[in-house]
Amino acid sequence: MERFYLTTPIYYVNSTPHIGHAYTTVAADVFVRHQRQRGRESFLLTGVDEHASKVARVAAAQGLEPQEYVDGIVESWRALPARLGVSPDFFIRTSDEGHKRFVQEFLERIRQNGRDDIYQDVYAGLYCVGCEAFKTEDELVDGKCPEHDVEPEWIEERNWFFRLSAYQERLLALYERHDFVLPAFRANEARSFIESGLQDFSISRAGQPWGIPIPWDPDQVAYVWADALVNYLSALTYARSGEDLVERFWPVARHLLGKDILRFHCVYWPALLLAAGYEPPQQLFAHGYLLSGDRKVSKSLGNLVADPLDLVDLYGADAVRFWCARSVSFGQDGIASVDGLRERYERELGNDLGNLLSRVTAMIARYRDGDLEPSPSADSPIAAILEPLADDVAARLDDFDLTGALERIWEVVRALNRHVESTAPWQLAKDDARANELDCVLWDLLDGLRVVAIALAAYLPEASERILDALRQPATLDWREVAYGRAQRVEGLAAATPLFPRVDEPSLTV
Ligand code: MSP
Repeated sequence: MERFYLTTPIYYVNSTPHIGHAYTTVAADVFVRHQRQRGRESFLLTGVDEHASKVARVAAAQGLEPQEYVDGIVESWRALPARLGVSPDFFIRTSDEGHKRFVQEFLERIRQNGRDDIYQDVYAGLYCVGCEAFKTEDELVDGKCPEHDVEPEWIEERNWFFRLSAYQERLLALYERHDFVLPAFRANEARSFIESGLQDFSISRAGQPWGIPIPWDPDQVAYVWADALVNYLSALTYARSGEDLVERFWPVARHLLGKDILRFHCVYWPALLLAAGYEPPQQLFAHGYLLSGDRKVSKSLGNLVADPLDLVDLYGADAVRFWCARSVSFGQDGIASVDGLRERYERELGNDLGNLLSRVTAMIARYRDGDLEPSPSADSPIAAILEPLADDVAARLDDFDLTGALERIWEVVRALNRHVESTAPWQLAKDDARANELDCVLWDLLDGLRVVAIALAAYLPEASERILDALRQPATLDWREVAYGRAQRVEGLAAATPLFPRVDEPSLTV
């Protein structure tokens, strides 16, 4: 049995979610839904990163204990996947007892691995609370963290360090595999960082009451990244009570992340795993930023595109999912604008797909009273168009090409629209001698739409179900059904109601 385990980063809860967080979560869900269609046992993990200093600061500013604060705000983070049509197999919180226990065991395993990988030293240097990361002078621009546009804080404290420098060769060996990190240019970025020489880093913080206590020195807490990264493994130990899923899913672990957290995932995390005696993940994919102007969309930069949940209220989860996958080539940076969402909603979802369904069903209802028998034909142009689709889309999604796979499906949507125009069923309907021809054209269009609906199900789960229903086709999403000639006979089919009706939008633009 082939399996698939995919994770999103766990999000900081110092604020409520924005579209950048929705982006990674939607992408992960598309990949997992697709793998399920191919019969793979899959597991999707997402959740929240609670033990950050910035979280403790926001709590203090609101006069709350950190735990009290996170217990409140976590609800808006749980709502995010649910509203986007995403149902994770587990939603992790780093304040879960199961996670805390596992992080302590994990750090203990490293300390006792016989290689002296954890030692005590004094850290004196800069710390950016936005990144929750130690910074060197040369990472700053005009004395500020370029990511958050703030001056880092000076820190001097006695910490526990991890001997990252001892892992250079073993890390480089992972990069011998061409697809350990995708896209390739990100693998090169991580590789050159490793080649430039690795510095040991602090895995604990002193004088911070909020966090997971270091088991052998409870006055210190785990550095937030040494706590958060471990979630990908810890979740598997307690997500299902009485069951340990590590053996089942860890060997097929894949992480999705934004490019901002490449080093933590592609360098620190595999080294920590090796030190603790675990295999590194199978694969990592780093996507780019959704931008507003030339800056990353971010709450701290205050350049927000509308709240993702408002967009869902207005356009529906499918439209937001579609926009995430389609408006920016996955892996690259790109502009996320509400205008772009509206435009795609109307032109692509409304016209290309929605009108196609309305036209095809209306023609079957009108010219055939809603009844149609299967009439596949090996030399139909639609057969040729549909034949390579399943493999093409699957290959792209296996490579995390979220945007390319969707474009491949859209080529078929456009081809079906052209087929309507070129065969002009309204002309055929005028000529009784061409009744068979009309049957074939209508049946091909019905079958083509059925295939498109199944191929799109990972992206547009709601619309896909509605299309199959409107076409009176079984709701099965099995990937083997993405093939020509499998539509079932229909009886009493009626013209479909608009799939993506017009939306009158209030002022949601930035
Ligand atoms: N808590 C850490 C991750 C720990 S994972 C073990 C963190 N959290 S975060 O909330 O700041 O951001 C997490 C992720 O949100 C980013 O890596 C990225 O996946 C996503 N994004 C946040 N803003 C984004 C954009 N503007 N554009 C695209 N994705 C962005 O880092």
